[in-house]
Amino acid sequence: MRNLAPTDLPVDLAERYAYPAQGSYLRANMIASLDGAAQRDGRSGGLGNASDRSLFLLLRALADVVIVGAGTVRAEGYGPVRPGEGWDGLRGGRPPAPPLAIVSRTLDLDFDAPVFTEAAARTIVLTPAVADPARLRMARERAEVIVAGDVSLDFSAAVGELEARGFARMLCEGGPAILAGLVEAGLLDELCLTLSPQILGGRPTRILNGPPLPVPPDMALVHALQDDDFLFLRYALRGGAAAPSR
Ligand SMILES: NC(=O)c1ccc[n+]([C@@H]2O[C@H](COP(=O)([O-])OP(=O)(O)OC[C@H]3O[C@@H](n4cnc5c(N)ncnc54)[C@H](OP(=O)(O)O)[C@@H]3O)[C@@H](O)[C@H]2O)c1
Repeated sequence: MRNLAPTDLPVDLAERYAYPAQGSYLRANMIASLDGAAQRDGRSGGLGNASDRSLFLLLRALADVVIVGAGTVRAEGYGPVRPGEGWDGLRGGRPPAPPLAIVSRTLDLDFDAPVFTEAAARTIVLTPAVADPARLRMARERAEVIVAGDVSLDFSAAVGELEARGFARMLCEGGPAILAGLVEAGLLDELCLTLSPQILGGRPTRILNGPPLPVPPDMALVHALQDDDFLFLRYALRGGAAAPSR
């Protein structure tokens, strides 16, 4: 065991969170309380601080596409990703903001909401074939729709379709149900976890909400940053493109 001694050296966050130079790569960004809660009063916002918000935005700026579950879109009232200040240098010729790719089976989404009507890059909907035909038609009018799987989204096929469209740097913002699906399918390359200095009790969901994983991924610590009493942990799949060499 060794001490991770705090230093006052400035941290270049864009450099510390750079995607691997080549290949497709799926990163998730999540926050949890000290006792493992992924939500406070039904949302994740009550867990964060200003630095967590800055990191949330930076990770969006670095991404080609942002994958999110419909539960989170509804709970958090998601709008489209809007270009932020200083993003130009980070986007490197890509569209000014990445599109959202929303995972939904029921397609119980408000297709007249800004998340569809005001998106700088057309919103994508990832859904299995079981989707209601009328809602599917509505979705196709307002979004690019990718159908993958029968009753349940085939996460591997859906991510493959995103890759085929040139979205190599993928970011998942949760929530816990779709993160569980992505990890179970062996698609997660990296977990960025903010540890919030709160103890909440109760029975909130954890950052993964799904059945036990038959093959838990082996994660390696890339870095641990600190702001105030928050920790910002970056873990990458051991042996993967961003993992530290042993
Ligand atoms: N701590 C964090 O970092 C964090 C991050 C994000 C969200 N959250 C919190 O998590 C909560 C929401 O969690 P959640 O698990 O309900 O939301 P979620 O994972 O964002 O979305 C769940 C929804 O995704 C769709 N879905 C999931 N698996 C699917 C599959 N196999 N096939 C097709 N569709 C599938 C379904 O949408 P339909 O119902 O539309 O079919 C399902 O209801 C909120 O409280 C939010 O604030 C926390």
